[in-house]
Amino acid sequence: MLGPQGSGKGTQAERLCAFFGAPHIEIGEMIRAEIAAGTELGHDLQRYNDRGELVPDAIVLGAVKPLVAQARSWILDGFPRTMAQAETLDALLTGENADLDGVIGLEAPDDVLIARLAGRRYSEATGKLYHLTANPPPPDDPGPFVQRADDTPENIKRRLQIYHTETEPLMTYYAERGLLHRVNAAASVDDVYGAILTALLAID
Ligand code: AP5
Repeated sequence: MLGPQGSGKGTQAERLCAFFGAPHIEIGEMIRAEIAAGTELGHDLQRYNDRGELVPDAIVLGAVKPLVAQARSWILDGFPRTMAQAETLDALLTGENADLDGVIGLEAPDDVLIARLAGRRYSEATGKLYHLTANPPPPDDPGPFVQRADDTPENIKRRLQIYHTETEPLMTYYAERGLLHRVNAAASVDDVYGAILTALLAID
């Protein structure tokens, strides 16, 4: 799943994993868990997270490699994000005699993304993801509903800038290999999911 912050990678990956029965490999969540655990690595990672910057490739690759090698299928959410990560993934898959089935490229204008990130909330009780207006918490979720530490206006701006310079070129990289399926991520959650599923189910 390739796409900018707030394009719905996490929202859609969760549904797709349930549909395909594939593990969800979500680096951002792994990073937040390490920070919450208060480990030495977590302290280092927090500095990147708090500034809205990418974590160095070496750390990310060290975490992803065993997970990718462990299963025959998975949904990678938010990885790769740099050309170095994409090339390492290629080498890893070649070594495993495997290949990517497809790359979903979620696309939406920055103003839509900013509004989504500003309204994103997580339930501390259930871990579920909501949006204050587009997907408000239901009455049976007791909350409290918290905002992610990196969803500050300043961080959102920096993360989107980094996406455009570091990650967006990967759209071309995968398009040139015939793997990219572009999806309009500004549509509703159900419509985006339908478009992704149609694209994935059409792959031989
Ligand atoms: P990560 O957790 O991956 O965050 P991110 O890339 O900033 O992406 P987001 O989680 O913000 O957005 P999303 O696309 O998943 O949207 P979501 O579904 O939540 O990474 C965090 C940090 O970890 C990074 O900043 C970096 O430091 C580090 N990191 C991670 N991977 C790395 C890597 N490979 N290399 C280096 N560093 C890495 O949806 C957002 C909101 O919109 C929600 O409220 C949702 O309810 C709502 N929403 C979703 N879809 C729709 C829709 N269609 N209509 C209306 N609302 C919607």
